[in-house]
Amino acid sequence: MKKILYVGSECMPFAATGGLGDVMGSLPQALKAKDPENLDVRVVIPLYEAVSDTWRAQMKQEAVFTVRLGWREQYCGVFSLEKDGVTYYFIDNEFYFKRNTLYGHYDDGERFAFFSLAVLEMFPHIGFYPDIINANDWQSALTVVYLNVHFRCVYGYDYIKTVFTIHNIEYQGKYNMYILGDVFGIDSCHIPLLEWGGCMNLMKGAIECADKVSTVSPRYAEEIQTPEYAHGLQDLLRGLSFKLCGILNGIDYKYYNPKEDTEIAKNYTWRGLKGKTADKTALQEELGLPVREDVPMFSIISRLVAHKGTDLLKEIGFRMMAENDCQLVVLGTGDSQYEEFFKALEREYPTKVRALIKYDRALSKRIYAASDFFIMPSKSEPCGLSQMICSRYGAVPIVRETGGLYDSIKSYSVEDGEICGNGFTFANYYSEDLYAKIKEALAVYADSEAMKKLQQKVMKTDFSWAASAEVYLGLYNSL
Ligand code: GLC
Repeated sequence: MKKILYVGSECMPFAATGGLGDVMGSLPQALKAKDPENLDVRVVIPLYEAVSDTWRAQMKQEAVFTVRLGWREQYCGVFSLEKDGVTYYFIDNEFYFKRNTLYGHYDDGERFAFFSLAVLEMFPHIGFYPDIINANDWQSALTVVYLNVHFRCVYGYDYIKTVFTIHNIEYQGKYNMYILGDVFGIDSCHIPLLEWGGCMNLMKGAIECADKVSTVSPRYAEEIQTPEYAHGLQDLLRGLSFKLCGILNGIDYKYYNPKEDTEIAKNYTWRGLKGKTADKTALQEELGLPVREDVPMFSIISRLVAHKGTDLLKEIGFRMMAENDCQLVVLGTGDSQYEEFFKALEREYPTKVRALIKYDRALSKRIYAASDFFIMPSKSEPCGLSQMICSRYGAVPIVRETGGLYDSIKSYSVEDGEICGNGFTFANYYSEDLYAKIKEALAVYADSEAMKKLQQKVMKTDFSWAASAEVYLGLYNSL
């Protein structure tokens, strides 16, 4: 039996704010399904306030012990539940995790240091020592570091291998130097392991200590070795490139399934797209937009922040609406300048635009199901999941060729009457290039046969975990 433990700060459906939660909630199950007899797959996250009572009622208490973090002595409870063949553990400490949001607290460094250490301390109490620990992003980076600096000589920990996965290199967990001993409880002799650019950098520490470092697309694995994308870690990653690899994420094909999704108005498959048209009219009714089957509908579902390419949309939004007969639905929250921009666009074009400034998962599915095109012009995108989700629902993606968008979406063309590609793509971060692709998309839309063929091709592209889970298994086996 091979024992694999995923460590991370969020996991669908228990508590999640973004793509990391999706991956933590779907990759472990997909991996388990590869070889149920020989794989023991488990996941551990903090027991946040946000974890609902429905889930809590299914949990069983596994252990209670004390974690010594520097000079602090903290209570730690471990709860567990089983779901789809995977065991999920929840680290309980109300002082750290009974808060109204997952992140954004003054003591996040301490909270996740506690979590990372508690994960390692938990093994003897639950009678489970993994063969592989796969830690994710800076919040669990210290698991990998603590293992190397404090646990290697302890029986049971000596042969554990580690993978550290970078979902977004922008967030590295950077702290003032003084925090090392006082909060993290790490001796100053280990400063060289964690120090980068004059501060403590948790992601840097994990990259140093892990046996393998992975990121969420092959293209991003190349990009983060360059100054444009690496947020300062390029030299480190170039030096350690022998242990770096990129594996494209998949999406949960059960949760995202237009054929059986109970959260959309009408189900459909690539064979019959009539249901999709019904979803469009249902959304138009819901949002008070003119109900028209013939009008092309674009959508954007994203955090409204700069690296998602929102600046490009700001440059062309008004022109796009003035010059074209189309509808645009935007869902997301973020920086006020972008929220205000989309609200202003709706005020100017009330019969064409809806700016829904909120986070709403069920509504996002109704939008994917209703729209013909999905715009995602990211400046950087480690993997991106929305381009895969929209494809599954037959909304053709229009993306910038970066990171996982580059790896997953190839540009549309017709060769010898055959459709090539599965979306519209542009290379330079330049609003005119995005607009040219929107125009090209509209031209295809005007030819209903071509549009139908493209939509069917897009829907049939395989973005399930099947292939990538196999690659992860290969990575674990290689260790
Ligand atoms: C982060 C990245 C996103 C990726 C996700 C899951 O949210 O920004 O591109 O898809 O993690 O790995």
